[in-house]
Amino acid sequence: MLAWHLSGTLVFGMREEFHRVIAIDGPAASGKSSVARGLARQLGFVYVNSGAIYRAVTWHILQKKIHPDETERIAAVLQVADITCRLQDNESRILIDDVDPGEHVRDDSVNENVARVSQFPAVRQIVSKKLHEQAQSHDLAVEGRDIGSVVFPDTPYKFYIDASPEVRLQRRMAQGGRDEIAVRDRVDSSRAVSPLVIAKDAHVIDTSSLTIDEVISQIIARLAHLGLAIAS
Ligand code: CDP
Repeated sequence: MLAWHLSGTLVFGMREEFHRVIAIDGPAASGKSSVARGLARQLGFVYVNSGAIYRAVTWHILQKKIHPDETERIAAVLQVADITCRLQDNESRILIDDVDPGEHVRDDSVNENVARVSQFPAVRQIVSKKLHEQAQSHDLAVEGRDIGSVVFPDTPYKFYIDASPEVRLQRRMAQGGRDEIAVRDRVDSSRAVSPLVIAKDAHVIDTSSLTIDEVISQIIARLAHLGLAIAS
């Protein structure tokens, strides 16, 4: 792994230094996960699904029988929660108080509440901190909603993956999901803090009629154009 640092953010006046970060943002079921995971494998980067961290936090809050609108209780619970990101097969997995929520992150209750919980600044701060910590020691391919716009604004490697609403719905149903993705998209795009936006320097790819491999090839071509040294 190359250890040069291309981007950073200021925290309490100190500059945080990061390894290389590829930001892959986009709406629900746009194909981000498959693309980011495949890309990370090809490049030898660590794959991070930031949505899975928001989902795990939501699951934890629901387990504690806290309503997703109880901001103060949520902040208090998260203050004492031990949130750890662990590497497994070059993918980041989240543990909360030593518990891996596993497939529970796709529970209906999590689907229904994750966009609400993700609106709270205290939650976003914690997740951003976890992502920054990982970028301090690894090259990352991170998927999410605000990765290029807010979490790693200085990375030159930003992609926005989209697809038509019909195609996205079909993809989610093909995964067996019963998720109301249109509702989540609306909440994600309209929230006050870190809404889903296309970062101004992001490369936009409409994946409606592309295969995963075709999207990955487009991204790799763009990365090469941007000067990212790609090991073969
Ligand atoms: O897999 P899918 O695209 O449906 O969603 P996800 O990536 O698992 O993200 C679940 C939810 O987490 C989103 O609908 C957002 O509310 C939130 N999220 C976020 O706010 N910021 C991120 N960087 C990633 C996810």
